[in-house]
Amino acid sequence: MPTLEIRDLHVAVGDKEILRGVDLTVGAGETHAIMGPNGSGKSTLAYAVAGHPKYTITSGAVLLDGEDVLEMSVDERARAGLFLAMQYPVEVPGVSVSNFLRSAITSVRGEAPKLRQFAKDLKAGMDALSMDPAFAQRNTNEGFSGGEKKRHEILQLELLKPKIAILDETDSGLDIDALRVVSEGINRFRSGDTGVLLITHYTRILRYVKPDFVHVFAGGRIVEEGGPELAEKLEAEGYESYTKASA
Ligand SMILES: Nc1ncnc2c1ncn2[C@@H]1O[C@H](COP(=O)(O)OP(=O)(O)OP(=O)(O)O)[C@@H](O)[C@H]1O
Ligand SMILES: [Mg+2]
Repeated sequence: MPTLEIRDLHVAVGDKEILRGVDLTVGAGETHAIMGPNGSGKSTLAYAVAGHPKYTITSGAVLLDGEDVLEMSVDERARAGLFLAMQYPVEVPGVSVSNFLRSAITSVRGEAPKLRQFAKDLKAGMDALSMDPAFAQRNTNEGFSGGEKKRHEILQLELLKPKIAILDETDSGLDIDALRVVSEGINRFRSGDTGVLLITHYTRILRYVKPDFVHVFAGGRIVEEGGPELAEKLEAEGYESYTKASA
């Protein structure tokens, strides 16, 4: 049963401490939403777990199925089953979506997928996300609209089949139809024994992707936890009571 355990995680950028003791466990089959004000450290948590070199772990632990994630390279983390959909997906000029995805699968599985099977899976994934097949030949994320980039992140999720997916504001900038299509993609993914950590500002997506737990992030740590009803409370009341308390 895949489980991501984050224990008392402290993370700094340069000499600035951003995460100040995060404790969070995402069990198999669970969906956790993280909500919190701008600059509270949500993306920092996502990057630190994924292994971005800019973020220095000053103390704490991250375990995936009991294995020490912090000892792993970025590639090893992906092979172990961790996936991060970035808030701001990067452009990869000169590499088509098709080639990008095939190399990602190759590096995660340790062997290249058979071309015919890959083409079939890619087409099925793109169909499921209502993506124009022409995207397969375009350079990865180059000139993509905001919503197109987000769909491409979910296409990676469909094809890579990780154990734990961290989705950093995958819902931002999506039109109403795209939000539904992307949510359906996330729901297909979480129908298995997988865990989802969904970072979001809006309760909209939580109507489609029902979280089991909601965590409020402020000032680099989790300041409150609850069920889906907590998201509604935040929408009504905002973060002020938390930001004052954590300042
Ligand atoms: N590479 C960096 N250099 C300097 N400061 C950084 C860096 N990365 C993050 N920070 C700072 O850390 C804080 C947390 O940033 P982070 O991106 O994690 O916030 P967030 O909760 O994801 O916000 P948002 O909701 O706007 O996406 C911010 O004050 C940010 O400026
Ligand atoms: Mg962020």
